[in-house]
This record gives sequence, structure tokens and C-alpha cells, in this order.
Amino acid sequence: MNYKKVIIHEFGGPKVLQVIEESTLPEPGTGEARIKVLAASATFTDTMVRKGIYYGFKETPPLSPGYDMVGVVDKLGQGVTGLEVGQMVADLTVFGAYTEYMLRPVDTLVPVPAGLDPAEAVSMVLSYVTAYQMLHRVAKIQSGQKILVHGAGGAVGTATLQLGALLNLEVYGTASKPKHELVQSLGATPIDYKNEDFLARMQAIGGVDAAFDPIGGENLKRSFKSLKKGGTLVPYGFYNQAMGKGGNVALDYMSIAVWNILPNGRQASFYSIGDLRKKNPAWFKEDLGLLFGLLKEGKIKPSIEKRLKLEDAAQAHELIEQAAVKGRIVLIVNG
Ligand SMILES: NC(=O)c1ccc[n+]([C@@H]2O[C@H](COP(=O)([O-])OP(=O)(O)OC[C@H]3O[C@@H](n4cnc5c(N)ncnc54)[C@H](OP(=O)(O)O)[C@@H]3O)[C@@H](O)[C@H]2O)c1
Repeated sequence: MNYKKVIIHEFGGPKVLQVIEESTLPEPGTGEARIKVLAASATFTDTMVRKGIYYGFKETPPLSPGYDMVGVVDKLGQGVTGLEVGQMVADLTVFGAYTEYMLRPVDTLVPVPAGLDPAEAVSMVLSYVTAYQMLHRVAKIQSGQKILVHGAGGAVGTATLQLGALLNLEVYGTASKPKHELVQSLGATPIDYKNEDFLARMQAIGGVDAAFDPIGGENLKRSFKSLKKGGTLVPYGFYNQAMGKGGNVALDYMSIAVWNILPNGRQASFYSIGDLRKKNPAWFKEDLGLLFGLLKEGKIKPSIEKRLKLEDAAQAHELIEQAAVKGRIVLIVNG
């Protein structure tokens, strides 16, 4: 049976994303399941994989990007128990999810409650688990505290805002002006980082209990200074360096180490969804399961600005790199 897949033959700009047709479905081996993908996120991290600048990523083209997916089990390999054909599942694939069919080891799959919209469900996997674990597993945030969220109008940012609102946090979010309405609608106070000094704003309120920074470089230093005594900085990305806007990953790591040695009453702890899942796979499943529960109860609703087709992956990447997406984009794959 023919099926579609988006692959890159070389690292590069959005145009390297090519739609190809495969002629034979992959056969699941022992301990594997074949998944018919329903939805895959298109995220900034996928653009880094596509450009060949995703830190620690060793794969080389040809490959398909696609950091997460929700799909249904289509066929089971030998020795698989506890999973049924037709069941909806999710996974953090890191790459490979821009396809109609893929193989996954069954022990990494997380069941998705019946009745959830696959596009909303897939939004939980990379973006919401990141937001949830940064808040709860790293910063160990308490109800009523103050936080600063950079990139507040993006995929992880909007997830952090929503989860922050559930905890009754006082949330400040940096975003460019066109995203302020969205940031406000999610209960946060927007700060126009292009025209305002977020550090001065944070110092004026006595500092925050936690700051979440995917930007890096100078921004990271200012985020650290935005903390009150006892506060935690959670760096989790290098947006500026990835966009060629300055910053240096090695220097950021050095700064984090130095800040933690100096007696300044504050701490910094880098978050990586992949590293934490490797260290504690049970947490990933537990946290994703909890998020599916909140979604099912209607307590959270991802800000999906666009639902595009798998064939529109290049357009999705262009929009993401132009910071033209309010919230997130999901690729609707089968159906
Ligand atoms: N460590 C992890 O496990 C992990 C997990 C997920 C994502 N990430 C990383 O987190 C970052 C964000 O991911 P995402 O999926 O949320 O990306 P996204 O949806 O593209 O959002 C990024 C947002 O940042 C805003 N922005 C750009 N420069 C900014 C600045 N200087 N200050 C404040 N906001 C700025 C952009 O819009 P405006 O400029 O219009 O406001 C955009 O909305 C990426 O670097 C990604 O690789 C890391």
C-alpha cells in the first residue's frame, strides 16, 4: 500500500522538506507497533532538526522530521501485549513523525483517552509536557507565585501560561505586540520585549519566583537577574542562536554552572524533555497521562492557530521561523 512521508535529503531551509510516496508499509518487528499517524506537531524544534543544528542530534539525512505524534495502532509485531489495533496512542518520536505510517517500540507509547481530538492531543506531547515538567518537576512552583515566561505567544509559551493559570500564578509573558491579545486571553500580563525592558518590569515588582527562558544569550542573563531571592531560572532553549541572532550555547552552560556556584540565593536548572525522559521514563508517561486528563476535562485547551496538511510541512516551517504563528501549528496527517 502506498503512503506519504515528508523527508529531507539534506539539511537546509524549508524547501528541503519534500513529500515522497513510499510503496510498501513498514512491518513491525518484535516489540514494535505500526502506527497510522493522525496528527503531528510542527514546532520550532523541528526546524532545528531540519537545519541540522539540533544539539546532540546525531542522525543524518535522509530523514523525516517530526518530534511527536498521535495515531492509531495499525498492526502489532510479535510479543506485543496490552495494546490493541485501533487504539489511539501518542509518542515523543524526536524525529520521523511527518509520515502517514511509522514503526514505534511499544514501550514508549502512551495511550490517548478515546474521544480526544488528535490535534489537541498531540499538542500535549512536546509542548505541554515541557511546560508541565518545567513548572512542576524543575521549578516546583507553588500556587500564587510569580513567574516570567519568554516566548509567551509560542507553542511552549502558551502551554506554560495555561498551566500557570490553573495554579493561580501571577504570570508575565514576553511576546511581540501581535501576540499580546493571545497572551492576555490566557491570563498573563504581556510585555513587549521589542520595546520594553522586561528586567526593569520584573525588578519593579520585586522579582519573580521562576523564569522560563528558551531564548538564551543576553536574555538568559537578564532572566537570572529578574529572579527574587530563592528564585529558579529554567533555561530550555537557544532560540536566538538558532535564528542567527547571537548567543552561544557553551557560554550559556558555563554561565548556568557559575550562577549555581556563586552565593547569590538563586539557582538555574537547564530543562531538556529528552534528558528527563531518559532519566525518568515513568514521569514522562505520568505527566502526559495527567495532561490528557486535563484536556479531557476541558481544563486546558491548546492554542492551535493553524491545522495544515502533511504536504504543507514546508509552509508550516516558514511560518514558524518568521514567528508568524500565534500559539501552534498541527499537521493533520490521516483524516
Ligand atoms: N528543552 C526542551 O526540552 C524543549 C522543549 C520544547 C521546546 N524547546 C525550545 O523552546 C523554544 C521555543 O519552542 P516553541 O515550540 O514554543 O517555539 P515557537 O512556537 O516558535 O515560539 C517561540 C516564540 O518566541 C518568540 N520570541 C522570539 N524571540 C523572542 C525574544 N527575544 N523574547 C521573547 N519572545 C521571543 C516568538 O514570537 P514573537 O517574537 O512574535 O513574540 C515565538 O512566539 C525553542 O528554542 C525550542 O527548541 C525546548
